[in-house]
Amino acid sequence: MPHRPKSLLIRVRLQRTRDELYAVHVGAGILPSLPGLVRALLPAHRIFLVTDSNVRRFHGQNLLALLRRAGLPAHLLAVPPGEKSKRRQVKARLEDRMLDLGGGRDSLVLALGGGMVCDLAGFVAATFHRGVPFIPIPTTLLAMVDAAIGGKTAVDHPRGKNLIGAFHQPCAVLTDVEFLATLNEREFRSGLSEVVKTAVVGDPDLFGRLERSPSTILSRHPEAMMKLVSACCRVKVRVVEADARDSGLRAVLNFGHTLGHALEHHLRYRLSHGEAVAIGMALEARAAEAARILKAGEAGRIVAVLEKLGLPTLLPKGVSPARVLETARRDKKAERGEVRYALPRKIGEMTRRRDRHTFPLPDRLVLSVLSDRS
Ligand SMILES: NC(=O)c1ccc[n+]([C@@H]2O[C@H](COP(=O)([O-])OP(=O)(O)OC[C@H]3O[C@@H](n4cnc5c(N)ncnc54)[C@H](O)[C@@H]3O)[C@@H](O)[C@H]2O)c1
Ligand SMILES: [Zn+2]
Repeated sequence: MPHRPKSLLIRVRLQRTRDELYAVHVGAGILPSLPGLVRALLPAHRIFLVTDSNVRRFHGQNLLALLRRAGLPAHLLAVPPGEKSKRRQVKARLEDRMLDLGGGRDSLVLALGGGMVCDLAGFVAATFHRGVPFIPIPTTLLAMVDAAIGGKTAVDHPRGKNLIGAFHQPCAVLTDVEFLATLNEREFRSGLSEVVKTAVVGDPDLFGRLERSPSTILSRHPEAMMKLVSACCRVKVRVVEADARDSGLRAVLNFGHTLGHALEHHLRYRLSHGEAVAIGMALEARAAEAARILKAGEAGRIVAVLEKLGLPTLLPKGVSPARVLETARRDKKAERGEVRYALPRKIGEMTRRRDRHTFPLPDRLVLSVLSDRS
């Protein structure tokens, strides 16, 4: 039977100007629609397909051939894989190459890769000739459900992550879940951690599906992936539409990230981001339940789903609870040394009081959940 690509559209409408309206195309096998999408959106004279060398091997060459067959003037630019490429020097090298290749104001940047490539290439697009259009084509689960949507672009600085960057909304997002087939198990599970977070933040039905059929999800069946990715995109789009410039509400997406970031930092990146966030969510949910912010019984459901998806939920052995809390206190999200948390009220709904979306918790309570290793 011929393979019929399926897709659906999620529209993003930001309040400020009409040209910040774009669509997230989510589908299985929809990559061949890219040349048509590009033609319909803009007459680009140069197309720069930015990727990393892993993704180039799996998918980059195919996409370049697809664009060229369609008569589009595309160039493939690959950077080494990993967070270390998300820095100013690599951005400058890409820009030099783009200028050498004749890139002008009518260039289009395509970001083919995970969150690292989306952030880096998005920031290149944000400043090249004072801003050219870009289309993220996310290839990791994390990038599909999080990094590719929302217009935050950045590079890291030795003093911290994402310290240099810009808001630059894409003109479209093309998400083909078939890319997930080549992703390694650890990266895939890491992305699932953000899926659990998104479900807790704003989609109780998605959470129910994760609870009922973890094995379907772990099998990466394209249909299941499409449902899961599009549900997450809808939640993220809803939050971004309400807070395009990250001035308050977007903080709800940081559930699990206060302790998660502290752990990630503390263990010098021995845990993947997703693993650290999974532990962060389990601990913050337990603390929120003990503080009577989260409905009784919900923390147990969150922990059980994470475990079924093969994610860790306990502080690793040998890690001192007091030092994790100390690291959280030094994080940029802390306010005058007060550690703040984005906490659910129940699964699918975050706590909000007036305009505040993050809350302090008593240290002794957080230390007690951090110390619980059973
Ligand atoms: N802008 C935002 O709103 C936002 C949100 C969340 C995270 N981020 C950023 O995202 C980055 C992390 O993203 P990530 O986890 O996707 O990491 P990543 O981009 O480094 O990708 C992880 C690894 O998977 C490989 N890979 C990617 N797609 C593949 C595929 N289909 N098949 C095989 N291998 C593949 C990559 O080469 C890399 O080695 C961080 O820099 C983080 O700051 C940004
Ligand atoms: Zn995250």
